Amino acid sequence: MSAKEHGKSAIWGGRFAGGPSQLMQDINASISYDQKLYAQDIRGSKAHATMLAATGILTAEDEAAIHSGLSQIEAEIEAGTFTFDATLEDIHMNIETRLSELIGDAARRLHTARSRNDQVATDLRLWLRDRLDDIDTALSHLQSALITQADAHADTLMPGFTHLQTAQPVTFGFHLMAYVEMIGRDRGRMADCRARVNESPLGSAALAGTSFPINRHQTADLLDFSRPMENAMDAVSSRDFAIEFLSAAAICATHLSRLAEEIVIWSTDRFAFISLSDAFTTGSSIMPQKRNPDAAELVRAKPGRIMGSLVTLLTVLKGLPLAYGKDMQEDKEPVFDAEANLMLSVTAMTGMIEDMSVNHDAMRQALTAGHPTATDLADFMVRELSMPFRDAHHASGSIVALADKKGCTLEELSFDDMVAIEPRLNDKVMGYLSVEGAAAARTSFGGTAPDEVRRQISVARKNYNL
Ligand code: ARG
Repeated sequence: MSAKEHGKSAIWGGRFAGGPSQLMQDINASISYDQKLYAQDIRGSKAHATMLAATGILTAEDEAAIHSGLSQIEAEIEAGTFTFDATLEDIHMNIETRLSELIGDAARRLHTARSRNDQVATDLRLWLRDRLDDIDTALSHLQSALITQADAHADTLMPGFTHLQTAQPVTFGFHLMAYVEMIGRDRGRMADCRARVNESPLGSAALAGTSFPINRHQTADLLDFSRPMENAMDAVSSRDFAIEFLSAAAICATHLSRLAEEIVIWSTDRFAFISLSDAFTTGSSIMPQKRNPDAAELVRAKPGRIMGSLVTLLTVLKGLPLAYGKDMQEDKEPVFDAEANLMLSVTAMTGMIEDMSVNHDAMRQALTAGHPTATDLADFMVRELSMPFRDAHHASGSIVALADKKGCTLEELSFDDMVAIEPRLNDKVMGYLSVEGAAAARTSFGGTAPDEVRRQISVARKNYNL
């Protein structure tokens, strides 16, 4: 009678008289979520079998049988005909057990010089490496969408805000380019993370390496890893590669949430700077007039769960002694959840940016409030009248107070009004108070002048290959 028929685990039942309780199985099994790793598990096993044959540990016939059996299993999983079994705990044992059914003894030799500890670390690294490539592509599409809008609106004036109060005139293109830079750094963080993900734990076995004459360099090469990890104990017990991903994901999601919040604000009817397309808004079941920016609100909310995933994995690893502990099985769901939600956020944001329409008039109209050229008035006094900036700031503030009292803009004040407050002023000042002039004058490197924004756009296109 087989171990399984005794109710014992077919995987490790040798020393056991009875099988695990149902509850033990419930808490122990990971197959419901780690089946996501099937392709990586199969790829890792094929590389391991190739290496075992190359080093003479397995025969060429066993290797061939393992390869064809694994290909068949992959096809079964993809066709939806494979039955995942929770009594087999995880993806590794589900595949190995099916391989035994298909090819018999050769399958039972595959686990030579390997453990699920190095296997699972290998699978997760392979999976994450591919996802990092997908994320990079998605982020580059978001940058392209932002740049297309920035280019179209390099001259479109709007108020720049600090404290969400009108500060100085900027262009909408300039504002969007700020996000292109942020996303560029997010891509850089993901690329840094990828370099550390891309190292092979395979062949570390349970924790101490193996006495078989394996070739870890060969499996690393076969799996396109940059190198085999130096220390087997580190290789099976580290998850900082996943923590690093979650941390980069949390930062990226935070950036997206800031843009999402701006989209929410800009699309209110108070601001009306932009309108979202029908594709990215929803109606209300009771108020027929509503167009709600639900996608933006969800992108605003997603950092909650992504940061939660980061804290989850940090907490799982904190204080965990080397080497492997089953605690580490709790690494997968936070990584899967964060990846899926980050990708959704990036792609939804890309769609919103591509489709949004921009209301120049509302943006221009908003510049008539809040005296956005008060700094330019002060700068004029510094430049033309050699006044110390602090004094100029004070004089400009008094002129702003007068405009407020009269209920007009700085530009609408008369020269006489201004000179009554600051007698040193000359009438050239009247040319420095327009919002168009104020934006065009900010030609400093990184400034908002339209030509400078166009320079930023061309540098970004080149740097990011867009
Ligand atoms: N399902 C396990 C995980 O995800 C695989 C490793 C099991 N190793 C062990 N020694 N029980 O971590």
